[in-house]
Amino acid sequence: MEKSTTKKKIAVFISGRGSNLKSLIKNSKLKQGKFKIHLVISNKLTAQGLKYAKFNKIKSFAIEKSLKEFENKSLSLIKKYKINYICLAGFMRILSSSFIKKAKIPIINIHPSLLPKFKGLNTHERAIKSKQKFSGCTVHYVSEKLDSGKIILQKKVKILKKDNPKTLASKVLKLEHKAYREALNFIINF
Ligand code: GAR
Repeated sequence: MEKSTTKKKIAVFISGRGSNLKSLIKNSKLKQGKFKIHLVISNKLTAQGLKYAKFNKIKSFAIEKSLKEFENKSLSLIKKYKINYICLAGFMRILSSSFIKKAKIPIINIHPSLLPKFKGLNTHERAIKSKQKFSGCTVHYVSEKLDSGKIILQKKVKILKKDNPKTLASKVLKLEHKAYREALNFIINF
């Protein structure tokens, strides 16, 4: 197959802090990177991640509306800017199956646990309470079922006796930043 030198266009959906977004932006600036963060969409007006987008001159939109309105507006932006992949990065809403179908492009998520363990919220607390030896993160395709789509890549870290949900979250977050860019560079074929 012929190779194109054009980087794939990514839309990142966020809800808050945006450290995964920040890390993806950094990677997308590398010459050898296969993707470019082209669009950032937040469902929260106050999401910190919007500041990184603005600072990096990336088109950004905050759509703090009902799920239906959020999805409709996002779909039109995705079509308008000819986005190739959607990446959820700390995006705390569950997209409808109709959105997933209509988007017609891969949607990828990062989750702070070793799926299929600990789907949903409070993953670090639950991993520690249930005396897991390891935790980590998972990058996966988004399907109609929460945190259940095909896994692209996982990274794991040991849970130490002295760990609490906060220390574990920060260890896992560091892994997330590596895992997300590696997973994207792995799945994107020029
Ligand atoms: C990350 O740990 C991400 O895995 C998690 O929220 C955090 C967002 O951090 N996502 C979920 O729990 C989704 N179910 P960030 O805003 O700094 O990237």
